Amino acid sequence: MRFVKSVRPAAAAGAAIIAALAPRDLNISDSASIRGVAKTIAANAMAYYAGTADRFEELPPPHYWWQAGALMGSMLDYSHYTGDRSYDRVIARALLHQVGPEFDYMSPAHFGQEGNDDQAFWGFAVLAAAERNFPQPDESVPSWLQMGSNIWNSQIRRWNMSACGGGLLWQIFPENPNGLDYRNTVSNGGLFQISARLARATGNDTYLAWAEKVWDWTEAVGLIDAEGNVYDGASSAKNCTDTNPLTFSYTAAIYLYGAAVLADHTRDARWAERAERLLEASRSFFSPYDNATNVMYEHACEHVNTCNQDMRSFKGYLSRFAYAASVLVPSLRPTVEELWHPTLEALAASCTGGESGTQCGQHWYWRAFDGVTGLGEEMCALETVQGLLAYEAPPPLKGDQIKTVRTFASGGSSGKRRRRREGAL
Ligand SMILES: *[C@@H]1O[C@H](CO)[C@@H](O)[C@H](O)[C@H]1NC(C)=O
Ligand SMILES: *[C@@H]1O[C@H](CO)[C@@H](O)[C@H](O)[C@H]1NC(C)=O
Ligand SMILES: *[C@@H]1O[C@H](CO)[C@@H](O)[C@H](O)[C@H]1NC(C)=O
Ligand SMILES: *[C@@H]1O[C@H](CO)[C@@H](O)[C@H](O)[C@H]1NC(C)=O
Ligand SMILES: *[C@@H]1O[C@H](CO)[C@@H](O)[C@H](O)[C@H]1NC(C)=O
Repeated sequence: MRFVKSVRPAAAAGAAIIAALAPRDLNISDSASIRGVAKTIAANAMAYYAGTADRFEELPPPHYWWQAGALMGSMLDYSHYTGDRSYDRVIARALLHQVGPEFDYMSPAHFGQEGNDDQAFWGFAVLAAAERNFPQPDESVPSWLQMGSNIWNSQIRRWNMSACGGGLLWQIFPENPNGLDYRNTVSNGGLFQISARLARATGNDTYLAWAEKVWDWTEAVGLIDAEGNVYDGASSAKNCTDTNPLTFSYTAAIYLYGAAVLADHTRDARWAERAERLLEASRSFFSPYDNATNVMYEHACEHVNTCNQDMRSFKGYLSRFAYAASVLVPSLRPTVEELWHPTLEALAASCTGGESGTQCGQHWYWRAFDGVTGLGEEMCALETVQGLLAYEAPPPLKGDQIKTVRTFASGGSSGKRRRRREGAL
């Protein structure tokens, strides 16, 4: 594919002119190349989503509802890091449509599959929108930041003291698998990270106190160990003494970013040290074989081909949150580069599938397309590539910097017509 250098800086408002580039041509030293590859992968990912600027659509089965929230989070990163605003209206429509009657992402249509972790993934997306002054075009509903706070309020009410000295359960509704027994780190990490981000965004110490509390609880029950490994969960029935030893890349990453946000917010060296420890422990998600040093993989399932629908997207969140953490805590950046640069080289060699020769596979350490395609695979690749631009983009806003913006930047598809319909001030 021919490569044309972009003429607009990434952070410029409006539509950046980006020439799409095949992943195999990725040059990680050239931000125009990174943007071009991200554009190609973003289009591949959004090919799985049938929604538009006017309409939300469920992801096709067997995807769960949470993954639509996760996809919007990835696309918010895409918009922010590359400056390509083409998808902004589609993202805003999805976030607004799914917010639920209490504006807290408790969506009655999805109660059959909604746990605390699912709600948290929509929370990560609305907080990213708040921290970037992403347009919120509907005057009749709260700001993105308020929605994030509403999620937080709904979750702290579920803090459960009946066993384990506290903690959130995985599920909200007893009918769901595992019901009201399992206390897991993706749910508690979600509350931890949301608390940390609200503390930084608002300066309100109530959120900080909760972030401390959730971290302390996770350590106290042994779900984060001294080395910084984050284990999957434990049961109420056993008072959390039966630690499930599985570790997943996204759980570590959720705590990692929360710790980095608190390091930035509090300037307390303990949080930077915790973030460094979590990133060090995350080396376990790299280097599956001697011939694949520092190439990322989901070690609980990938090399034995047992990753389920959810797990297929986990590496994407490790990338999302590790890059974002290293923006706020620069001491993390050398380790991120040590691990992510070889990963990117392998990824570029494996995203050569399909008729376009640009589809991404799952096993990057093959250094060749493995024939495994899906939304999860594209999202993993997208976050891993576009996060390279995080250091050039504005850092997350806070305090008075956060404003409710009603209009979209110019650019993207059918801008003028839709802007009027969506109620510009
Ligand atoms: C990658 O980009 C850098 C910076 O633009 C450039 O100096 C280098 O030649 C490029 N490498 C390749 C292989 O094109
Ligand atoms: C259950 O675990 C909590 C937290 O570790 C502990 O404080 C409490 O004493 C334990 N309860 C019982 C009955 O062992
Ligand atoms: C801080 O946040 C909590 C929880 O949302 C809220 O109840 C409280 O009113 C806030 N405090 C201030 C000073 O805004
Ligand atoms: C608290 O957790 C226990 C299990 O330890 C569960 O039986 C109970 O329903 C939970 N309470 C709430 C309000 O979720
Ligand atoms: C890397 O090593 C593994 C395990 O020895 C082997 O199965 C695989 O084929 C090797 N990959 C490459 C690209 O040589």
